[in-house]
Amino acid sequence: MGKLAITGGAPLRKRPFAAWPAYSNDEARALKQVLSSRNWGGYPFPNTHADAFARKFARFHGARYGLAVANGTIAIEVALKAAGIRPGDEVIVPAYTWEGTVGPVLLLNAVPVFVDVSPDTYCLDPRLIESVITPRTRAILPVHLAMNFADLDEIGRVARRHKLAVIEDCAHAHGGKWRSKGAGATGDLGAFSFQSSKLMTAGEGGAVITSSLELYERAQSYTNCGRASATDRYRRRMIGFNYRMTDLQAAILEVQLRRLPQQAKVREANMSRFENRIRNVHGIGLLARDPRQTRTAAYQYVFKYSPESFGGIPRAAFLGALEMEGVPCDGLFYEPVYKSALFPVDPQEYPALSWGRAAPLDLRAMYHCPVSERAAYEESVWLPHHIFLGSRKDADDIADAVLKVSENIHELRRLKHPAIARKAMSRAERPRVEKRQW
Ligand SMILES: Cc1ncc(COP(=O)(O)O)c(C=O)c1O
Repeated sequence: MGKLAITGGAPLRKRPFAAWPAYSNDEARALKQVLSSRNWGGYPFPNTHADAFARKFARFHGARYGLAVANGTIAIEVALKAAGIRPGDEVIVPAYTWEGTVGPVLLLNAVPVFVDVSPDTYCLDPRLIESVITPRTRAILPVHLAMNFADLDEIGRVARRHKLAVIEDCAHAHGGKWRSKGAGATGDLGAFSFQSSKLMTAGEGGAVITSSLELYERAQSYTNCGRASATDRYRRRMIGFNYRMTDLQAAILEVQLRRLPQQAKVREANMSRFENRIRNVHGIGLLARDPRQTRTAAYQYVFKYSPESFGGIPRAAFLGALEMEGVPCDGLFYEPVYKSALFPVDPQEYPALSWGRAAPLDLRAMYHCPVSERAAYEESVWLPHHIFLGSRKDADDIADAVLKVSENIHELRRLKHPAIARKAMSRAERPRVEKRQW
């Protein structure tokens, strides 16, 4: 029997952390009000709460217009469509992200072009973008990942030089700021998710923000089955779909938005406290905090585990042990999309991958992004935001658990344990063993 919980010792943390999602009677009242109005859906469009929420959400981030949609994947599709992405166009995406960043590009029969991420931030490496630009490139789709912004200054410079649209994937960045401007408001469009795990949630949901009336009108038409937008100044017509958010979701999100600033304060204070406690642990590396990121929105706290510094003990063992100490954590949270089992791309289904090319692009074989691959398979440790929504003692417990596992890492050598096996499983495999998935 060892000291670590995974080898039979007492777990460091026995109580659960703050529950997520957070809610109060305010959500219950808002829902009741929509229920009794009998006006539950997304139509007439935009419906009362969806419109009110989208306006407030856009203003909160410093954009002129906001549109509420059914989920974050759809928000990206709507933003791409509004930006005028057409079949055969190329869209630059980071290799290290959720598959939902990339799927909509293919859905529009455009071609995703993967670029590696920076080892300092795990976000799109701006130094690598220019070399992949071709005459077909139309947009850059940076993701503000986990707790960092992509370098919007450099991305903006490249985009202006080559006349490309910038669509920010802000699924992790509600309330975050880059140079005092809200997430999604620096690029042409910003796309957000309100899926259960996110910093604000209605179970599902998404939003698109922009300061261009033309893009906003296109986004509205596409989301509302091709109908004219409320203003219809640009009179663009297109085939659209029903991608509307219900007013039940929007009513919850209005309340969640009011709560966000206070939660952000608590989370940031606890994450900083935690960070200071683990800063000097040998073998643990921190991501950089860019001073241009003037407000952090941390969807997950991410740090680096160096297997070499821990005698070759793999990350899955560290994570399994940390979870057994009572701290929820993940490593294979994302994979380089081109390698992920959730990305079994078949060129027959996406004909643009073949257009004008001697052979179809084999997206699964043609890329090697070393930083993304190391982050995904060896070093990244992801801690969910809600565990930082409690007390300072909670933050200390998380740090103490990291220290405890680091100091007793030798107990994990050659250890086999179901908790370790689970941490080595990809997101594609996990539904077999997990009931609840974030
Ligand atoms: C980076 C990123 N992009 C896009 C999405 C898609 O959002 P949704 O799950 O609401 O469709 C998510 C969330 O799951 C995400 O984390």
